[in-house]
Amino acid sequence: MAEPVLELDGVTAGYGPTHVLRGIDLAVAPGERLAVIGRNGAGKTTLLNTVMGLTRMHAGTVRLRGQPLGRLPPYRRNALGLGLVPQTRDIFPSLTVEENLLAAMRGDATLDEAYALFPRLKERRRNGGTQLSGGEQQMLAIARTLMTRPGVILLDEPLEGLAPVICDQLMAVFEDLAADGRRAVVLVEQHAEAALAFATRAVLMVGGTIVHDGPARALRDDPGLLHRHVGLALAD
Ligand SMILES: Nc1ncnc2c1ncn2[C@@H]1O[C@H](COP(=O)(O)OP(=O)(O)OP(=O)(O)O)[C@@H](O)[C@H]1O
Ligand SMILES: [Mg+2]
Repeated sequence: MAEPVLELDGVTAGYGPTHVLRGIDLAVAPGERLAVIGRNGAGKTTLLNTVMGLTRMHAGTVRLRGQPLGRLPPYRRNALGLGLVPQTRDIFPSLTVEENLLAAMRGDATLDEAYALFPRLKERRRNGGTQLSGGEQQMLAIARTLMTRPGVILLDEPLEGLAPVICDQLMAVFEDLAADGRRAVVLVEQHAEAALAFATRAVLMVGGTIVHDGPARALRDDPGLLHRHVGLALAD
């Protein structure tokens, strides 16, 4: 693999004294499309939270471009190029779409590029966060993270609860995000089919550990593998 942009080495982490992740080793190459698949409670969100500095680390190291992140707080990790789109979306409900984007904007990011990716957000730019549909809120959560110019974007179950037509639109956007081959995209999903169609590599999680790490194609070609490892079916 090329020099990894993101690396976890023997990471054990959790909330307070609780250990949720145990002995996680994972390296993500620049421009890689990685799917993280596992059932409810497997530790997928905790993995992303740990990369962002939102959990308590008990052992191991997280490195970004070779630099150990130690106890760096989330906003500093974001400034260094890690962008999380949380499962809870976490947009500011009292702000309009445009205000949400402006609040996140950094460097040479522009509203136009957010609106080019999500024309729907341009139409809704004066709407408050609470006036948006679930799909529009997810679009805003993604666009807002992109305004911070992440070199690694972490997407936590972005398709959850959304209509198939919106899921297809979002997957097309993820293709766009990965297309330049420089930005790494980590997609956490229970929609295994969509995630494996997008990803080149997949890790499977059970009980806070990685039980399989390999090419996405192998899991597409042999759905039994997915079922054996994590008890998920391909057709969703
Ligand atoms: N804030 C928290 N405090 C204590 N325990 C937590 C906290 N958040 C999650 N956990 C526990 O950590 C474990 C992993 O949860 P996590 O949210 O990482 O799973 P997940 O794979 O993202 O699941 P889902 O698909 O439901 O989002 C679960 O046992 C959960 O109860
Ligand atoms: Mg989760």
